Amino acid sequence: MKHLLSIADLSQDDILAILDTATSMHEVQDREVKKLPTLRGRTIINFFFEDSTRTRSSFEIAGKWMSADTINLTGKGTSVSKGESLRDTVLTIDAMGVDMMIIRHPASGAPKQIAEWVDCSIVNAGDGTHEHPSQALLDAYTMRRELGELEGRHVAIVGDLTHSRVLRSNLLCLRTLGAQVTLVAPPTLMPAGIAAWAAADGFEISYDLDAVLPTVDAVMMLRVQRERMSGGYFPTAKEYAVTYGLTARRLSLLQDHAVICHPGPMNRGLEISADAADAARSLVLGQVSAGVAVRMSILYHLLAGEGSTS
Ligand code: NCD
Repeated sequence: MKHLLSIADLSQDDILAILDTATSMHEVQDREVKKLPTLRGRTIINFFFEDSTRTRSSFEIAGKWMSADTINLTGKGTSVSKGESLRDTVLTIDAMGVDMMIIRHPASGAPKQIAEWVDCSIVNAGDGTHEHPSQALLDAYTMRRELGELEGRHVAIVGDLTHSRVLRSNLLCLRTLGAQVTLVAPPTLMPAGIAAWAAADGFEISYDLDAVLPTVDAVMMLRVQRERMSGGYFPTAKEYAVTYGLTARRLSLLQDHAVICHPGPMNRGLEISADAADAARSLVLGQVSAGVAVRMSILYHLLAGEGSTS
């Protein structure tokens, strides 16, 4: 495996191998000295053309804990803002001899295009509304840790699905692992063409959150992405919270063992109430912690594991 561009490129065995390696990587987090020699002498560039808190810092921490040299670049501080084309910029970085570029870009497909131009490994850290594969892997890791194997488990993914790259990667990942998935959103935030995908793949679509919640093992709330919205997708924030938010009242609809996920950043009071975000069954901070371990595992499989580029 040279690149991580889409969950669609991974088999069930590939996904399970990444999750299993992440389990051993997770132990490093509890050590006093958080350092493995695995990627000594390797150079990784985090190239982020969009804002990020969790993804960028956890990829950087993952690289550092594995002894790689990691460097952060953003669109703003580079020659992209002087008019240099994306192709010239990434070819320039590649010519320095880096081993990997971790790319976040507002254009869907940008990491794939870059992978065709350069020699180094490319990781997609979120491209437009397309995919965010490392997020789906860390979500699967976190749910699997809590619920056991995900085969046959029921996961609801709820919220602004139209604009969500997390949705697309999670849907592919969960279905590949054999989970049952139900998507819940207002009709205006249900992606165009999703019914045909659902019919072909066997997942469900619902507009009724109250009916779905009692049946799930995990509910994944997705952020309302106002920065990607060009028009009004729902009348008011209050109405959205009442009809599709994980409110305090809705928590009581969940089975005792059911868990709550959110990839962050959260809009508290909109898609998720403070009661839900801070509940004992909320895995939100567990997802962040798993993010480092899963990203260490991804770096391992791409740069050091069997079939890597080394
Ligand atoms: C997500 C993203 O940027 O795609 N966040 C993340 O990486 N944890 C989801 C979002 O922005 O809502």
